[in-house]
Amino acid sequence: MDRIDKLLASTGRWSRREAAELIRGGRVTADGAVVLGQEEKFPSTVQLQVDGEPVLAEKYTYLMLHKPDGLVSATEDPREKTVLSLLPGYLQRIGLFPSGRLDKDTVGLLLLTNDGALAHALLSPKRHVDKTYLVRVEGELDGEDERAFREGVILADGYECLPAGLERLGPGEALVTLREGKYHQIKRMCAARGKRVVFLKRLTFGPLVLDEALSPGQWRPLTGREIEDLRRCQ
Ligand code: URA
Repeated sequence: MDRIDKLLASTGRWSRREAAELIRGGRVTADGAVVLGQEEKFPSTVQLQVDGEPVLAEKYTYLMLHKPDGLVSATEDPREKTVLSLLPGYLQRIGLFPSGRLDKDTVGLLLLTNDGALAHALLSPKRHVDKTYLVRVEGELDGEDERAFREGVILADGYECLPAGLERLGPGEALVTLREGKYHQIKRMCAARGKRVVFLKRLTFGPLVLDEALSPGQWRPLTGREIEDLRRCQ
């Protein structure tokens, strides 16, 4: 059993203070009856409505973050600011973590969730969930780079990458699609081709597409449809 304000806040749509205001305004019902106080407790299976609209008091929370430059993809770090610091306090205490890492200087789509099983499945090397990045390098990318990516780049340490997509958009700019997620993978793939990455932005993660309405540093809850699509690729 959880407090109603906590159940509402766990959706990521309202803070606990906002949830308390909704309750005070008589706008929340639980299994059809108006909720009278923010301290009332319910099981997570309760049917909640706000202003007559169903609200899923989900066990897990899923957020899409537009990661900005300069933050580390971790839940805590002794020296650096983490992506979790972008969330309000009530969302910093529900066990969210980034599903997969982006480098400190990489920007773009990051999924934050406390659904460990789903995150684990999405990152499993067996699943080959595609990720697409916008990449800019110093100098130019050419047809040979495209071919090398398609065939599997061999990194400086001898690791042979899975075939990857490289679609040139301009002289030094491309869309790169990876089916795996090794440490600094794109930077190391480009380095193996003698090119230095100067900008890297993740645009997609499996079925999820970065919402361009989100500026760097902004986040929003995933829609029900996005969560379903992610579950389908488990
Ligand atoms: N490849 C990289 O080199 N860095 C990232 O952050 C993601 C993919």
